[in-house]
Amino acid sequence: MFARSAIRTLAAPSSRLFSSSSARHTKVAVLGAGGGIGQPLSLLLKTDPLVTSLSLYDIRGAPGVAADVSHIDTASEVNGYAADHLDDALQGVEVVVIPAGVPRKPGMTRDDLFNTNASIVRDLAAAVARVAPTACILVISNPVNSTVPIVAATLEKAGVFNPKRVFGVTTLDVTPPVTVVGGHSGATIVPLLSSSNGKSVSGEAYEKLVHRIQFGGDEVVKAKDGAGSATLSMAYAGAKGVTTPTFVKSPLFADQGIDFFSSNVELGPEGVEKIHPLGELSAQETKLLEACLPELKKNIEKGKAFVA
Ligand code: NAD
Ligand code: LMR
Repeated sequence: MFARSAIRTLAAPSSRLFSSSSARHTKVAVLGAGGGIGQPLSLLLKTDPLVTSLSLYDIRGAPGVAADVSHIDTASEVNGYAADHLDDALQGVEVVVIPAGVPRKPGMTRDDLFNTNASIVRDLAAAVARVAPTACILVISNPVNSTVPIVAATLEKAGVFNPKRVFGVTTLDVTPPVTVVGGHSGATIVPLLSSSNGKSVSGEAYEKLVHRIQFGGDEVVKAKDGAGSATLSMAYAGAKGVTTPTFVKSPLFADQGIDFFSSNVELGPEGVEKIHPLGELSAQETKLLEACLPELKKNIEKGKAFVA
């Protein structure tokens, strides 16, 4: 999962982030640990040998989840924190994963979650800025296209924003070996099938595959019939190695006023090490990108305006 990839990189003994004495010490916080994603994510992080301390926070249920996963026989310590102990939960944390917020119901777009989740993510980001300003922040909460700019703007307001350390988790959109770029909703999700060196797809089969990748999340929302969206697959979204697609502050389309974008990113000890360009696009992919950019720009501006 992307979180593991980030932790693996940041905790690597060669990492400049940690002195040799603390190279294996990685404290991770899950904010929203009581939820459909938060619980299995906490379980997986408890089993990760690179996580030496796990801090589980939620407005309800985190102490119970912590008590439960504490029975998993791995070396990491785990603590659960109730609603009014957010600052305690963030003490000394190096990686913060945020799945806090409500999921979609059938018929909703991710943007429909904005009015509820924007303030949740803003307030959690403000606490991270206050208590753990150098932590890497992995944003799962939707709409990611807007919640990542909200986190960035909140940290910027506090004077602690490091563009290398804020990541929107878009891993679920990626269907290896296909690279997927852009954002994390509908037409902003742009699969680059031509560069997937898999078998080439065209015509109706191409349209169907692109639609499936763009609206895979909607399939789960429909199938769960009001019980939420992807949780288990999210908690276990696989990240291969330390080059992974993620929605970050990016120069790729900054000249068009679009300063966040998801493309393959190389992670290093400081967070983002290298943002890979898109490479050669087919005519169809150029068309998909043309449809992506204006919508993505709107989503990003909406997030920024919320914090302004
Ligand atoms: P859920 O309702 O099961 O869990 C959300 C949790 O957040 C709950 O435990 C709730 O108590 C908690 N919460 C609410 N306000 C909080 C606050 N102020 N501080 C801390 N915790 C708070 O929802 P879920 O299915 O786990 O989904 C969570 C979010 O993740 C949704 O916004 C969903 O759209 C998003 N999501 C994103 C991806 C992705 O690919 N990025 C994938 C799946 C779901
Ligand atoms: C997903 O892609 O599964 C998530 O963004 C959840 C959703 O609302 O589809």
